[in-house]
Amino acid sequence: MSDAERAAGAAAEAAGTVVGTNFGAYQSEIYLDGLAGRLPPFTTDPTALEASARERMEPGPFWYVAGAAGSGATARANREAFDRWRLVPRMLRDATVRDLRTTVLGTELPAPVLLAPVGVQSIVHPDGELATARAASALGVPMVLSTASSHTLEDVAEASGDGPRWFQLYWPNDDEVCAGILKRARAAGFTTLVVTLDTWTLAWRPHDLDLSYLPFIRGVGTAIPFSDPAFRAGLATSPEEDPVSAVLRWVSLFTGTDRSWDRLPFLREHWNGPIVLKGVQHPDDARRAVEAGVDGIVVSNHGGRQVDGAVASLDVLPEIAEAVGDEIEVLFDSGVRTGADVLKALALGAKAVLVGRPFAYGLAHGGEEGVRHVLRGLLADLDLTLGLSGHRSPAELTPESLRRA
Ligand SMILES: Cc1cc2nc3c(=O)[nH]c(=O)nc-3n(C[C@H](O)[C@H](O)[C@H](O)COP(=O)(O)O)c2cc1C
Repeated sequence: MSDAERAAGAAAEAAGTVVGTNFGAYQSEIYLDGLAGRLPPFTTDPTALEASARERMEPGPFWYVAGAAGSGATARANREAFDRWRLVPRMLRDATVRDLRTTVLGTELPAPVLLAPVGVQSIVHPDGELATARAASALGVPMVLSTASSHTLEDVAEASGDGPRWFQLYWPNDDEVCAGILKRARAAGFTTLVVTLDTWTLAWRPHDLDLSYLPFIRGVGTAIPFSDPAFRAGLATSPEEDPVSAVLRWVSLFTGTDRSWDRLPFLREHWNGPIVLKGVQHPDDARRAVEAGVDGIVVSNHGGRQVDGAVASLDVLPEIAEAVGDEIEVLFDSGVRTGADVLKALALGAKAVLVGRPFAYGLAHGGEEGVRHVLRGLLADLDLTLGLSGHRSPAELTPESLRRA
């Protein structure tokens, strides 16, 4: 911790904020640093982050992160949906002392925020998932590690130290490979399994197509299967000797096979922790998830990267929360950029949110430090906006906290 961090922490503590979830203190730290002539490492404005990252990234990686399916209509809709809701601040409610902590499926979160699974992070920064794991762990925020990681899950687990770890599965169509990966994830200390349903094949993504840029077929984002004994057993030669054949096997295993509800028991058999289904957008699918005995869902449209023209994820959140919110944990992602966005999603029924592109842009700006800056900024904004709108904890947000714009 820097001297400025300590000073800012002490100042906020004196003002009565809860220690440990004292995220608003990042604001004082930045202003105090300014007295010593130091500016933040890069912008604190979430709406300027993408443009700033673009200046630092090659076109292929930048568009892989920023791009969306088809015309981009779903990605735009995700943002527009947030703009249609406004917080209604309440006054004189003694919100000086705040506690942002919450518990999701046995994982204690310092705030209702997780890092969404984002694959192939080494296209953004050479340290990739290792940097993200360190930054998330330093703040106690769970990182959801993607199956498409550019580092092995054992290495990412080590980088995350004592931090909470969740693992996201892209469900391979080979049961042995699947079981092997799940076993390794459990052994490496990942507690919760997030199964992504909406990306069993890649959508039509014009930005990537125009640049003919797909990281996987260049061997990036394949570290987990390439280091997996069951995957390697299916190859005539090792991925080190013959990367092209290994990539082709990866393609045939990890893309192109949709699953059905009756296959979920297989995952339960091979995972003895909580299971969360990611990509749910319809209340009937949410009810089906409850019937299937899973523990949670992520209401998500993959940040608009899969079904072009799909409904905004926030627009379906209330009906899904209404349908199953009392029975399983409802998480949310797609379009979250600011503290106010987090509060809106909580008010509409989410227990916590996942954030994707913003932290990837942080990674592009400066590896671990960059992710930390973006995350601390979001959490500070969340903390301050929570208090200024008259709330002391995330649980106080209800639909009554919002009005239609
Ligand atoms: C570059 C990139 C890679 C992603 N990789 C994965 C992945 O490997 N697994 C997954 O479930 N979702 C993946 N996602 C989707 C995110 O988990 C999340 O649903 C989405 O980014 C949320 O929207 P946001 O970017 O607007 O916050 C990826 C998203 C991006 C931007």
